[in-house]
Amino acid sequence: MSLHSLESIKLGVPDVQAAGAYYAEFGLDRTSDEGGIQTFATQDGGEQLEIVHAERRRLLEIRLVADDQDDLDRIDRNLQRLEVTATDTEGKLTVQDPNSALLVTISVGDKRTMEPRPAVPYNGPGRPDRANDRAPAVERTDRVRPRKLGHVVVGSLDQASSERFFTEGIGMKASDRVPGLASFLRCSTDHHNLLLQQAPLNFLHHTAWEVDDVDEVGRGATAMLEGHPERHVWGLGRHHIGSNFFWYLKDPAGNFSEYYSDLDCIVDDQLWKPSVVEGAKGLYNWGPPPPPSFIQPDDLAELMTGNHAPQGVNPIPRPVREGTTS
Ligand SMILES: [Fe+2]
Repeated sequence: MSLHSLESIKLGVPDVQAAGAYYAEFGLDRTSDEGGIQTFATQDGGEQLEIVHAERRRLLEIRLVADDQDDLDRIDRNLQRLEVTATDTEGKLTVQDPNSALLVTISVGDKRTMEPRPAVPYNGPGRPDRANDRAPAVERTDRVRPRKLGHVVVGSLDQASSERFFTEGIGMKASDRVPGLASFLRCSTDHHNLLLQQAPLNFLHHTAWEVDDVDEVGRGATAMLEGHPERHVWGLGRHHIGSNFFWYLKDPAGNFSEYYSDLDCIVDDQLWKPSVVEGAKGLYNWGPPPPPSFIQPDDLAELMTGNHAPQGVNPIPRPVREGTTS
């Protein structure tokens, strides 16, 4: 069958308590806090974030889920073709991306079902779908709580090599590409679960958390900025690739965290036409212009100073043809 979900991530930060307090305020539910490790759950995705100590902020692991053991066997064979060795223990495949040293685990499990949220009525010109009533969003007073972890974005020293690992090896599919700069990969019906972007080092750019609608994006960010204007990174806007509304904030370690809604869904691979997007649309469709610190986070130089190539791993050779779609 196939990969079907991004299950969870492990995030390394210098100060676990500070990062944990931030993600609790962001709307995740803390499920444990023991031995310097904190875990968090979303409303519909279960436990999806583990925060552990690391000297420098970095994404340590992403965990994916596939339908059955045949999927793991196929992924194992595909990785062997790329001369990458995975270990299969008790129904869990573990492999390190040779380019970034990011640990990828794939287990067998069922797909979580998300409770469908009722559509919110919006008035339009000549179309009073919400006659004689206020917009429900302006009456909301509860705290914004993300439904699930949607995607992670990582900078890669060799984006083409990383893409090859995640598509030809792990089995993700490319939804769209920005030539030479970025590839949007999916392992579920979400437009992207992993975005690889060319960067001067391997690092975590952001994690993205789905909320109900654009009002929740705005309400969530507004609450996070109250008393903490330094958390603002970029928003409110709408991406062109993936179509999602976005607002990016910054955690105490320097990782960006995104509230998003209305991401494109790809439920039939045959009906989606991957495209190559160039220019500003690679970043956004509308919104304020992205600040330079979104493209090049302020701590990048500091991270680069302490960055060393992972020991004992060799990059996957670059593909013969680049910029192809699948
Ligand atoms: Fe994003």
